Amino acid sequence: MIAPTEDAGRAVADGAATGTGAFTPAPYRVVERRVETDGVVSVALVPDSGEPVAWRPGQFNMLTVFGVGEVAISMSGVPGEGRLWHTVRDVGAVSHALCGTGVGDVVGVRGAYGTAWGVEELDGVDVVVVAGGIGLAPLRGAISLLARRPSGRGRLCVALGARSPDQVIFAEDLEIWRELGAEVELTVDAAAPGWTGSVGLVTAVLPQLSFDAGRAVALVCGPEIMMRIVARALVDRGVAADAIRVSLERNMQCGVGLCGHCQLGPLLICRDGPVRAYGEIAHLLGERER
Ligand SMILES: Cc1cc2nc3c(=O)[nH]c(=O)nc-3n(C[C@H](O)[C@H](O)[C@H](O)COP(=O)(O)OP(=O)(O)OC[C@H]3O[C@@H](n4cnc5c(N)ncnc54)[C@H](O)[C@@H]3O)c2cc1C
Ligand code: FES
Repeated sequence: MIAPTEDAGRAVADGAATGTGAFTPAPYRVVERRVETDGVVSVALVPDSGEPVAWRPGQFNMLTVFGVGEVAISMSGVPGEGRLWHTVRDVGAVSHALCGTGVGDVVGVRGAYGTAWGVEELDGVDVVVVAGGIGLAPLRGAISLLARRPSGRGRLCVALGARSPDQVIFAEDLEIWRELGAEVELTVDAAAPGWTGSVGLVTAVLPQLSFDAGRAVALVCGPEIMMRIVARALVDRGVAADAIRVSLERNMQCGVGLCGHCQLGPLLICRDGPVRAYGEIAHLLGERER
């Protein structure tokens, strides 16, 4: 079994990497803003002083809009870019304020927190990535690294689901990943005039992907119900439950394992997640053993 990379307590340790202590956000400035789709915005942040915090794909930061509040948002860039990209869906007060920030605005950052997808261990391994909607954001960095693996060995298959063609985020990246040799399948819940691609749940395109299920690792992120359906489909295809990594979202407050708001059974998702092996957490999501 290849488990997600982690070590308990790293949340607090990494939080200290901002140089500000566990709870004090460091000031970062918005240096670029991109509207991905209606209601989804990406912002690039650089620290007012020092280097951006080191991070690995799958991890998240706590972002503060001063005077509004703080939310957990995954990194959506590629490590080493020198700036932190976050992609936010406008669903409530804090996400709305984040989407409304402009170049030059200051937001607070503390992190990096949580577990990573563990792409460093996947050179030469067949990897199937399945994302729904904004679930592609925490996977973007992982896919970008996997598409450029040093050995060039191991298939990379990507299945993406979106509500409609105009809700597809990072559309230009899909082409780049294809050019680098990845198999990328996209499906939408509802077609629009001119759409000639697949329509239906993301599970419908899984059979089109050519990976060796018995030896593959899967990275899955999206709404919880989608991750459960995808995980069941992958297990039915022959992927080991422990080789399926999912990203769990729970309400976050402290982000460093102290307040208990993000508890899922024995896990604190800020400290022990968000990335976990499906085989390990399926029962916590109410899944029966199959
Ligand atoms: C580890 C982790 C990583 C995350 N990464 C991202 C990310 O990369 N991008 C991102 O946009 N969000 C991400 N989230 C969700 C984010 O932390 C907030 O929950 C979300 O932005 C809503 O916060 P809010 O204060 O704006 O809205 P709230 O006031 O908390 O919620 C407003 C309403 O929206 C609903 N709602 C809350 N979250 C969502 C959601 N995700 N989709 C649809 N409806 C929702 C609530 O049920 C409520 O009805 C992540 C969460 C976790 C735990
Ligand atoms: S958010 Fe406080 S313990 Fe996880």
